[in-house]
Formats: sequence, C-alpha cells, structure tokens
Amino acid sequence: MSQNKISSLISHIVTAVSSCSLYSRAHPVVEEFTEKAVGLIDGLFLNDSLSFFLLGASLIINDMPFSEKGIHINNFKKRMKKKKIEKIVIKKGVDLDEFRNFISAMASSDTIASSPHIAVGIVEVKLGESGIDASALLNAGIEKVKDAYSQVSRFKSLDMVSLEDAVIDFIATLKKELNVLRIVSPVKSHNEYTFVHATNVSVLTLFQAESLGLKGEKLHNIGLAGLLHDCGKLFVSTAVLDKQAKLDAGEWVEMKNHPVLGAMYLSKLTDVPPLASIVAFEHHMKFDGSGYPETKKSGKKQHIVSQMVAIADFFDALRTERPYRKALDVPTITGMMKEGSGKDFNPLLVENFLSSLKKVTDVI
Ligand SMILES: [Fe+2]
Ligand SMILES: [Fe+2]
Repeated sequence: MSQNKISSLISHIVTAVSSCSLYSRAHPVVEEFTEKAVGLIDGLFLNDSLSFFLLGASLIINDMPFSEKGIHINNFKKRMKKKKIEKIVIKKGVDLDEFRNFISAMASSDTIASSPHIAVGIVEVKLGESGIDASALLNAGIEKVKDAYSQVSRFKSLDMVSLEDAVIDFIATLKKELNVLRIVSPVKSHNEYTFVHATNVSVLTLFQAESLGLKGEKLHNIGLAGLLHDCGKLFVSTAVLDKQAKLDAGEWVEMKNHPVLGAMYLSKLTDVPPLASIVAFEHHMKFDGSGYPETKKSGKKQHIVSQMVAIADFFDALRTERPYRKALDVPTITGMMKEGSGKDFNPLLVENFLSSLKKVTDVI
C-alpha cells in the first residue's frame, strides 16, 4: 500500500467534500476531485476493499496505522468525527456515481448512510474480532511515544501533542478491548523496553482509573502521568541503564536518582500536567512511607495516582523478561502483589486491580 497514494486519495476526498459544502455538488472542482479520487481507489484495494478506521487519534487504513500527518489528514479525521463514524469501507465495484453521493453525504449536515459499495458506521465489535488487529492501534500509540521519547533531552521540550494523542489511542483501545492483558504488549527487544514499558504502565494505570470511574481530563492526565513516570531514566547513563548484570552500589545510587531527575525535568515544562511530575517523583515510594526518594516528611502518603502507577509498574516490570531475570507469570505476580498489599501498595487499589482483572480474564 503506497502511503503517498493514500495521502493523495485523502486530499482529493477532503478537497471534494470541502468544495461541495462551500458551493454545490455540481461544482466543477467537486467533480474534478471526485473523479481523481475514484481513479486512485482501484490501486489501493486489499482483498477487494479499502478500509479506513478512526480509533482514538489514529487512522488505521487497510489494518495498518497510517502515520502521515498534514492538514488534509486532520481534516479527514475531523469530518469522520463530525459525521460520528469510525469506519469507511469502500468495496471493489464502487463507481463514480456512488462516490459522488458519498462525497455529498460527507459534506452535508445530515447523517450518512451506507451504500452498496461504501459501508460507514461505528466500530462496535471488540478489537481482534473486527478484523482490525488490536496491535495496529497500540503500535500507532507506541510509535507516538517512541517519537516523543527520542526527542527528550535536558534542553528540549517534550512533544506533548504526540503523547496526548497516544493516551487518546490507549483509552480508545481499552474501550474496544476490555481484557487489558491482551493490550499490554510484549517487549520484543532490549532497545524498545523504555517505550513499551511506558505504554504498558500507562494502559495498566488507565485500566485501574477507569474501573474507579475516572473520566475526561482527569483520566487523560492519569494516562500521561503513567506514560511519563520513568522519563528520568533518559538522564541516567546508558552504562547503568543497559547493564546486563546487577548494579553495584554506585550505579544503584545513580539509578535511584531517576524519580528526582524525571520530576525536575517535567516540572520545568509548561504544558505537562503537574500530576506527571508528582507521579515521576513518587512512583518508587511505598504505601508505608518507605521506598525512594527518601524525603524529610517521613510517613507522607503517596498521591493516589502514584499508588496506581506503582501497581502498574510492578506488574509490567515483572511480566517482562529482563537481562538479569526471567519473566514471571500473572498468578505469581498477583500473589506477590497480595503479599505487598498494605506495605508496598495501597490495599484498596490492589483489591480493585485484582477484581477488575478477574472480570476480564480468567488467568487469575
Ligand atoms: Fe521507575
Ligand atoms: Fe517503570
């Protein structure tokens, strides 16, 4: 599938639709771009159909995340949102006349209906059963996190737009696929641990927060805080970060500094919610006041979102194989979590996490 051809198709559609709402469906510009669009479609079918899915902030075209950016792509997504549709599936056999009707329906303020070769609607079935690969949307999110993380430096700001879009993708994925264990991705290589772990902690924290009824901007900020909890690690030397064996005392001191480095970095950025700095600082503290960083205010309780992130962090870290230890299975991890309940973790949150997991999976 050529990304360029898809981009051209989308700009033809958007130009035709915008001209149709500005003038009329009979306007020559509408006709010109409708014809151009139909001319391109033929070469873009995959198994006799061309599908567009809008999930979260991502466009999935023919089951692959479409990462191109631009005014036309954004306009296309906005049009789909405005028409309250998440999918457009164009089937082989579509002709100019049917496409003209589709363009004018997209331009009008009325609800849009499917036609014989153009199906429109909502993606109601869960991911994985709908023909959309659950990992496609997740990968779209992970790519955004990876892009944003690769730009982090002491001197540069974070690409918050990408990170915010990634959180929208994760919230959308959780709505479509309730079993969070099917969403958290395995780490395929050592290099991707940072991004995949950030994603998984965000997803597992959102899962807990949603089960507690949190919504809207609060939920979104919680997802961002999960995503950024370990960003201080980007300022720890790679010699320590990538060491394949256990750390010595000096290296451990450096590693244990990542919550402070992360919180300092995030607190200087104006477009990052303060919650993200709090969570970056507190995610290795424990429910009973132990853990690190040690503060003078002993006995000070962690923020409840830091407590949720601590649970997500523990769960994801142990289920992932690391150079110095094997991955653990879910029942072993949840067993350890129960043991740490009341000491390391907030017991109510452990109970909530485990009972929410039980509702969506039979692994535990
Ligand atoms: Fe950490
Ligand atoms: Fe972590």
